[in-house]
Amino acid sequence: MDRTSFTAGPGEIGPVFLSEEQIQQRVAQLGAEISRDYAGKDLVVIGVLRGVLFFMADLLRAISIPAAFDVLAIARYGPTEQTQGVVRLTKDLNEPLRGRHALLVEDIIDTGLTTHFIMRTLRLHEPASLKACVLLDRNRRRIINVDLAYVGFEIPDYYLVGYGLDFREQYRNLPYVAKFEPD
Ligand code: PRP
Repeated sequence: MDRTSFTAGPGEIGPVFLSEEQIQQRVAQLGAEISRDYAGKDLVVIGVLRGVLFFMADLLRAISIPAAFDVLAIARYGPTEQTQGVVRLTKDLNEPLRGRHALLVEDIIDTGLTTHFIMRTLRLHEPASLKACVLLDRNRRRIINVDLAYVGFEIPDYYLVGYGLDFREQYRNLPYVAKFEPD
C-alpha cells in the first residue's frame, strides 16, 4: 500500500510527527520489554476503546509470550478538564482478572484522569499486578499523577491525528501520527 496516498481534506493534516517506521520500531521495543517482564506470568492486556485499537493490535503482535486481551469502553460527562474525570464504564471486562497480571494500554494520556479512573476500577478486580503502558504521553496537560510503566513517546502539546487519534472521528486509520492543522 502506498502510505502517502491517504486522502485528507485540503490543508487539514500537517507534517508527519511520528512516521509509521518510528511507531513500529518503538512498538517492537515495548513488546520485547513487556515479553521479558511478564515471561511465565498470566498476562492480560486491557485497552480502552476506541483510539487504542491500532496500538493495542500492533503491541499484542509484538509480544512474544502468551497474552490474553480485553477491552473496556467509557463515557465521559463533558470535557474531561471541566468535569475532573467524571467517567462511567459502558462496557466492562469479559476476562476475569483476579490473580492475573493486568496491563492497561492507552494510545494517549493527557490529563491522566481517564487512566486514573480505569486503574482504580481495575484494582477492584484484584489482579496480581496492574501496570500501565501508553504510546503517547502528553504530560504537559497532566492534572493527576499516574504511574506509567511503559511509555512509547513523550510528546509536546500538539494536536495530533492518526494511529488511533481522531479529529471528529476522522484520521484514526492513518498509519502514522501527524500534526493536525485545521483551516
Ligand atoms: C483518549 C485516550 C484516553 C484519554 C486520555 O481517548 O484514548 O482514553 O483520551 O485523556 P486524559 O488523560 O485527559 O483522561 P478519547 O477521549 O480521545 O476517546 P477515543 O479513544 O475514543 O478517541
